[in-house]
Amino acid sequence: MSSIKRIGVITSGGDCGGLNAVIKGVARYAYSLGIESVVIPNGYAGLYNLVDLDKVVSLNAERVSKIEASLAGSEAGHSRVKLSKIKDPNTYERIKEGLRKFAIDALVISGGDDTGSVVVDLASHGVPCIHVPKTMDLDLQPYSVGGDSAVNRIATFARDLKTTGLSHNRILVIEVFGRYVGHTALRGGVGAEADCILIPEIPVDFDVVYEHMKATYFGRVMRSDVKAGTYIIVVAEGLKNASGEMLYDESAGVDAFGHKKLAGAGKYVRQQLEKRLKNDPEVIEFMKKTGMYAPGVYEIPEVREVTPGHLVRCGGSSAFDVNFGYKAGAGAVLLLLEGKTGNTVVNVDGNKIYHMPTSEAIKRREVDVKEVALFESLGICFGRRPQRFEHEFSEVNGSIIRHL
Ligand code: F6P
Repeated sequence: MSSIKRIGVITSGGDCGGLNAVIKGVARYAYSLGIESVVIPNGYAGLYNLVDLDKVVSLNAERVSKIEASLAGSEAGHSRVKLSKIKDPNTYERIKEGLRKFAIDALVISGGDDTGSVVVDLASHGVPCIHVPKTMDLDLQPYSVGGDSAVNRIATFARDLKTTGLSHNRILVIEVFGRYVGHTALRGGVGAEADCILIPEIPVDFDVVYEHMKATYFGRVMRSDVKAGTYIIVVAEGLKNASGEMLYDESAGVDAFGHKKLAGAGKYVRQQLEKRLKNDPEVIEFMKKTGMYAPGVYEIPEVREVTPGHLVRCGGSSAFDVNFGYKAGAGAVLLLLEGKTGNTVVNVDGNKIYHMPTSEAIKRREVDVKEVALFESLGICFGRRPQRFEHEFSEVNGSIIRHL
């Protein structure tokens, strides 16, 4: 029998879809077992300052019913605070005091790699806690709530942008969140039928991008009866150049976890294409043939970058993320009761709760570039010469296949 009577729920890192479902999943499942859950507000900053709070919000039936699982963001609030970086030698004692003050026996903490590293840290300091994977970046080993919602939003934005791109015959570069990996750019870009997808895992050769753009976009405009065409590039914010250097804007600064804020990849891609368009004598020919040429005013097609930023992780949660969030929240409660502190919920499939040590779950997962070759065979450009899809066959016997 577990002695857990009260669970604290924390959400941490960048917000995203599905988090409210995690909170509800924890609260309702715990309630069904006669356990109370409470909100520890604003991520680890709130955990650190818990001891100074007058009261905590109980996630009782009435309060939980006010939380909309289908809305993105988190009712529990977020911060990007890493406990080990707080300049206080008594951080962990202070946290334990706060937990004692409110009789909180254990924690469910939802977040990404940084958040997970703090789960490992807390567990090693004797605080019982379970990690629910959350990040729109999809860079953890297991699926993370929020990924599906973000991918769907990216796909919708990129698809919708085609109407304006087509009206102005513009080449559009859409820079999307995703940190150091290209999962969201890849999945969202494919979902939108983007022409070109640039991800950090593949160093970009801009001559290849330019050639693909010229063949695709010029062909489209030429063939169109109304001389209309666009070309859509989805670029991951963590893009690297051919020498492997990241292309972010230094002036963006760092976040509270100490990571560089990434911005500027879209601008860089635009500049690379503009440079080539200006130096290519065939471009003027193309502009003339398609009736677009206006000397001194409109001599090359326009390239524009669009940065949806936080729009890709706000608003609504996908149905998949609500499902996953509920299941992962409930699974976390059961893992806590089982004494599996320092573990991450991987999935609940049937009646099986899959889990793994959080220290393993937070190891960075990159896009498997072997799979990219499949999309290259379908005509999408990834900024390199298309490679052959080297496939293998593997029979599955009931094992779990990753959703994204
Ligand atoms: O880690 C999630 C994420 O959305 C990244 O893709 C992005 O780089 C970052 O958060 C933005 O963080 P913030 O909201 O703190 O600016």
